[in-house]
Amino acid sequence: MYFLALLLALSQILCCWAIDTRMLEVDLILPRNDTYPPSPIFPIIFAVQNPSLAKSFQPMITLQVEQVDGNFSTIDTFKLWESSNDTSSTRFLNWGTSKFDFEGKFRFTWDLSMDRCSLDKETDEVNFGRFSEFQSLYFTTKNGTSPADFVAATDDDTCDKALAQAINYADLSKLPATESTYGPSCLAEPTTLPKPTNPCNAKINSSAAASMSAAMTSIACARDRPGVTCPTPSSRSAASKTHLKMGGAWILATASLLTYCLA
Ligand SMILES: *[C@@H]1O[C@H](CO)[C@@H](O)[C@H](O)[C@H]1NC(C)=O
Ligand SMILES: *[C@@H]1O[C@H](CO)[C@@H](O)[C@H](O)[C@H]1NC(C)=O
Ligand SMILES: *[C@@H]1O[C@H](CO)[C@@H](O)[C@H](O)[C@H]1NC(C)=O
Ligand SMILES: *[C@@H]1O[C@H](CO)[C@@H](O)[C@H](O)[C@H]1NC(C)=O
Ligand SMILES: *[C@@H]1O[C@H](CO)[C@@H](O)[C@H](O)[C@H]1NC(C)=O
Repeated sequence: MYFLALLLALSQILCCWAIDTRMLEVDLILPRNDTYPPSPIFPIIFAVQNPSLAKSFQPMITLQVEQVDGNFSTIDTFKLWESSNDTSSTRFLNWGTSKFDFEGKFRFTWDLSMDRCSLDKETDEVNFGRFSEFQSLYFTTKNGTSPADFVAATDDDTCDKALAQAINYADLSKLPATESTYGPSCLAEPTTLPKPTNPCNAKINSSAAASMSAAMTSIACARDRPGVTCPTPSSRSAASKTHLKMGGAWILATASLLTYCLA
């Protein structure tokens, strides 16, 4: 019995940082504050930890990229609650975009917004709204530089530099019965957002990197995007069918990283 407890405690230490299963965390894996080659498949990767929590309170990533040395700008959103049911502990959202296939300097700004409420205890009045805080970094595209390395981006010596945001799903306010259409509780409006604790839990190994990269390529090929080297026709149609089924411009490469920590 004691031995088992000890073993369990030890495996927790060896295995991971303590995972708070009520915390949804989003880590920006790529791009970083770095220089990349222009590419018709420019990778943008987020890691979502505890994605199953995303079913509630409509968490959404909004990202806006503005060219600093020009007038290009683009905005995209990803609704995390629209992902398929996911019991894995980490899911990667990856996107190979053609938007940065030219040289430039860019400001990359993103936020993680969610439904919030604030409760006026005296009047029992509830205010609902969205809440978020944005973070930014700058990246550059330049001919002849080396492409982003998905594995290195989550290496032990760089993972803690990832921009990350979190939602603490334990931070709930009980709603009065008059708000029953919304549900029994809502996510309280925080004075400060919780600090993400585990950016280093989201690891991309070389086989995961290869499948993300293949998925990005097959989307681009299915759309006949110029400048992309595509696999042979037979594997191409097979691959694009699998990946397109996963939905839209975003490919959700589900990973069961570290599920043993939650077991
Ligand atoms: C980005 O990288 C440059 C050059 O490596 C460095 O000078 C700058 O402080 C970095 N900025 C951030 C926000 O990390
Ligand atoms: C943006 O810049 C390009 C070239 O740098 C120019 O051709 C275009 O007219 C500009 N567009 C706007 C809206 O300023
Ligand atoms: C997800 O699970 C819920 C209930 O747990 C179910 O109603 C829904 O159909 C599932 N959605 C998908 C996409 O599997
Ligand atoms: C970078 O490469 C692209 C495509 O090969 C080319 O069109 C462009 O002129 C290059 N830019 C510079 C500054 O050399
Ligand atoms: C690589 O990561 C995937 C999940 O992302 C996992 O299923 C696989 O077992 C890992 N491979 C190795 C060799 O660790």
